[in-house]
Amino acid sequence: MLSQKLHDAINAQINAELWSAYLYLSMSMDAETKGYKGVANWFFVQWQEEQDHARILMNYLNSRDCKVELKPIDEVQTSWGSVLEMFQETLKHEKVVTGLINNLAAIAAEDRDFASSNMLVWFIDEQIEEEESARDMIFATESVEGDKYGMYQLDKELATRVYTQASPLATAE
Ligand code: FEO
Repeated sequence: MLSQKLHDAINAQINAELWSAYLYLSMSMDAETKGYKGVANWFFVQWQEEQDHARILMNYLNSRDCKVELKPIDEVQTSWGSVLEMFQETLKHEKVVTGLINNLAAIAAEDRDFASSNMLVWFIDEQIEEEESARDMIFATESVEGDKYGMYQLDKELATRVYTQASPLATAE
């Protein structure tokens, strides 16, 4: 069994991952409305990935005989001033998530819960990628600022992003 503190923190993280999913789905819908179909696709894939993150944690709690408790998901913003703002907020949000994951890892270490520490390694690595991809998107969007044709090309490129199931789920099935 996990300590109550870690159990509660993982349940809170499931909620945070589902909130992240909801945030990116909202960005996807806003981009769609504004005609950026590629940006909408990029955030739609992000929405799918965040749901995977929640599912990995739910599977983990179940496997450790700990109850998953789903809490209400808070409201999210529904409109952004620009595509650049969306990616800037993505980076800001992912930095917060990195802090939450680090906190989980610290609790697991304190508990000497090696199985939980091991499970969290995937999330620690994933956060490096999450922050890097948001930074890349900020750079790409800034590079075409004020250039409508450049933005059109970037949007077309983002339309090619495809969802791939997170590896812990792929190996679990
Ligand atoms: Fe679940 Fe975007 O980190």
